[in-house]
Amino acid sequence: MTSFEYGYHSLRSRMVEVKRICCIGAGYVGGPTCSVIAQMCPEVMVTVVDVNEDRIRAWNSENLPIFEPGLQEVVESCRGINLFFSTDIDKAIQDADLIFISVNTPTKTFGIGKGRAADLKYIEACARRIADVSSGHKIVVEKSTVPVRAAESIRRIFNANTKSSLNFQVLSNPEFLAEGTAISDLMNPDRVLIGGDETPEGQRAIEALHRIYEHWVPKSKIITTNTWSSELSKLAANAFLAQRISSINSISALCEVTGADVEEVAHAIGTDQRIGSRFLKASVGFGGSCFQKDVLNLVYLCEALNLCEVARYWQQVIEINDYQRKRFSSRIIGCLFNTVTDKKIALLGFAFKKDTGDTRESSSIYISRYLMDEGARLHIYDPKVKKEQIVQDLSYGDDPSRVSRLVTISADPHDACEDAHAIVICTEWDMFKELDYKRIYDAMLKPAFIFDGRRILDSLHEQLQYIGFQVETIGKRVKQRVSLTPKKDTTTPDHHPASKRTKQ
Ligand code: UDX
Ligand code: ADP
Repeated sequence: MTSFEYGYHSLRSRMVEVKRICCIGAGYVGGPTCSVIAQMCPEVMVTVVDVNEDRIRAWNSENLPIFEPGLQEVVESCRGINLFFSTDIDKAIQDADLIFISVNTPTKTFGIGKGRAADLKYIEACARRIADVSSGHKIVVEKSTVPVRAAESIRRIFNANTKSSLNFQVLSNPEFLAEGTAISDLMNPDRVLIGGDETPEGQRAIEALHRIYEHWVPKSKIITTNTWSSELSKLAANAFLAQRISSINSISALCEVTGADVEEVAHAIGTDQRIGSRFLKASVGFGGSCFQKDVLNLVYLCEALNLCEVARYWQQVIEINDYQRKRFSSRIIGCLFNTVTDKKIALLGFAFKKDTGDTRESSSIYISRYLMDEGARLHIYDPKVKKEQIVQDLSYGDDPSRVSRLVTISADPHDACEDAHAIVICTEWDMFKELDYKRIYDAMLKPAFIFDGRRILDSLHEQLQYIGFQVETIGKRVKQRVSLTPKKDTTTPDHHPASKRTKQ
């Protein structure tokens, strides 16, 4: 036991009890996290608040604002009992013993640190509002990913703005959930991390939050540290995960020119227990709201602290990710006889990964833009992303008339592929393994190409080639059949998965 943990355990007897929790920010982090807390702690009242009225309305409806497997059931089990969604932010703050700040911390788009530093304006707005409307003792918990020492800024705002009757403790409790598996990550976390002050008051605040998690998380998995270690651990965890993906993606480039297969390499190195097999899937590059933002944040922090070599090291993780997206796009253009101008291309998958409707920093956005820059006509299909979202993502910083001219959103993958020169798979949705590729092939222009940016069609390569497709895949040189056109009398054998729905 460290001296920090010893101090914390010796204070357990004089602890603050949390009866009411307020969570500011009803997004991908705040919504699922507090729904699980409410379900696991039936005696605690949990109110999730947001400035966005539409979002709160959706949380109170049957159509939750985010898609997350298992979330609907959790919300329905406690909504209106001890879980509430509201826009009355001040009241929820006033009533709460403990306040989670789960607002967004996007990368700055202007000013100092533009493109790299996290924009803390939403966090600051929350801190000021809490200071303004609170009375008595409050524990304020940073849930949002923040730069190291953000808690210090929050504390300073409190100290400079509060009446003498007030007492705030600021904790760091970063969230490690991944989208698509948020509910199981929250129910069975690898660890819960709580950082706080080494003072007795700080230790009591840590204990109060510790007790909330103890309702369902084994004590051995709840790690307590000082505030800065907790903040830095979150950034470091995401940076390490992103680095693994960039590492395997860099190897995928090598595989494509040497004849090695990145899946085989990943398997071979992943069986070494020191390396481990997870997060070694080569892809079109990582997306999502966290990895790029957090790595850039780390780079910015290092630069600000004059650790230029360290900054350069982490910057390379982002550069390889950008390179992978460009490399994949260039390969598409190269294979399509060096021009995609005016060619119809079906882009399957727009979410940044499967089982989520989230498109933030999705590689699909970047690949779409590269192809649009070359004049390609994109027909995009995603089972969970709404049309408006795709249009908004592609229109951001772009000419809307170009987007409406070049982009069509399809409600059906077969429609997207009809008369297309190529299919580009950007998200690993399971349904893309089950498509009727014979029917799709018949409706495409020839030669018909499939670019598998997610390695989801590996087991179908032979069948797809048999049908007549030219298959191109990340991290592997697929040997093409000599003739790309199937014989006239050839029908795909029934046992081939690729012909699954042919006869329907
Ligand atoms: C990540 C972290 O996993 C999570 O702990 C943190 O709290 C938030 O950021 P998330 O962004 O939801 O979660 O998704 P994740 O599963 O980590 O995937 C991120 C991106 O990396 C996706 O685009 C995914 O497709 C890609 N990825 C992941 C790969 O390309 N290869 C892999 O092996 C794993
Ligand atoms: P994350 O993925 O970190 O959860 P989201 O963007 O999904 O990020 O959610 C953050 C939420 O925080 C948004 O719904 C936004 O409206 C909300 N928010 C931002 N600032 C404030 C604020 N000052 N008060 C209340 N809600 C806020």
